[in-house]
Amino acid sequence: MKTLEIASSRPYKVLIGSDLLAEVGTQIKKIGEHEKIAVICDDVTAALFGARLKESLEKSGAVACFFSFPNGETSKNITTLQQIYSFLLREEITRSDLIIALGGGVVGDITGFAAATYLRGIDYVQIPTTLISQTDSSVGGKTAVNLPEGKNLCGCFHSPRLVICDTGLLKESFLIREGIAEVIKCALLADPELFSMLENGEVATSLDEIVTRAIAIKGKIVAADEWDVGERQLLNLGHTLGHGVEKCSNFTVPHGIAVAIGMSMILSACVANGLLDESVLKRLHLLYKRFDLPSTYDGATLEEIIRVAFSDKKRFGGDINLIVCSDIGACSIKKMPISQLDAFVRRGWSGR
Ligand code: GLY
Repeated sequence: MKTLEIASSRPYKVLIGSDLLAEVGTQIKKIGEHEKIAVICDDVTAALFGARLKESLEKSGAVACFFSFPNGETSKNITTLQQIYSFLLREEITRSDLIIALGGGVVGDITGFAAATYLRGIDYVQIPTTLISQTDSSVGGKTAVNLPEGKNLCGCFHSPRLVICDTGLLKESFLIREGIAEVIKCALLADPELFSMLENGEVATSLDEIVTRAIAIKGKIVAADEWDVGERQLLNLGHTLGHGVEKCSNFTVPHGIAVAIGMSMILSACVANGLLDESVLKRLHLLYKRFDLPSTYDGATLEEIIRVAFSDKKRFGGDINLIVCSDIGACSIKKMPISQLDAFVRRGWSGR
């Protein structure tokens, strides 16, 4: 098992290993005594992993209760949140008890927000079950629900007490392809060696190493800018345009795939604008072939994607903070007037 320390204002550990679900009960005991544990999951993670988690918690003497809601982004709303609060109240969960999020990003985000707000805040543990949630959403303390007007519009920062990444679960949740874009993003941001590993190695047999490296990069950025006012925006590489693609597709293109397209678009623009050598873009596209990731989206025009990206919440006044890449392991924040973004991206788009 590998252990990372996230040095945020309330530090916590991330445990990474291939059979950690069986150890959850023991690991949770190490962060304190909790009379009762409320596990929040969705119907898919409940069916796949619920019984094993229950067994592990009960073995260590914990009293556990479970609540699950239908899998998918459409559940990440205030109605489900209200159901979670009602469940916690029915089960008489108090501030000295603990909540566990067992699932992907939707489960982690909504459970984190419930934990942040229930009784003015109670401790929670993340057990992410997908590659994308292990390497991105479970670390960093961002919690949220969606509103009818858009994604993640209601939320707050609330760090987990512990994150347990059982990489063995990834083989069962079949979502490597959707999560690998966030790993590629981390490699582009800060880890050329990880990029080479993805190019040459066998992901399925090096999941522990890959997940650890990706989380280490995110953890370092989060520790430097927990409240997302500066450096943390680097984690948005490919996300502004990716979010545009996601929305234009009416969310039929999953987040991780949209991020892959967004990264390809922005790196193409970086090449066309003289910021990046073309060989890097070629390597990225070869990597995409390896993981069967698309580099373009044909369901909308560039105008449409950019219009939606403009309305993104990462916008500040008339400027947008664009994350640009000058080499593998070297990315930076470029503040750009929205009026210039279209031409900047278009130069790369026409050459695709
Ligand atoms: N997912 C980006 C962040 O945590 O800031």
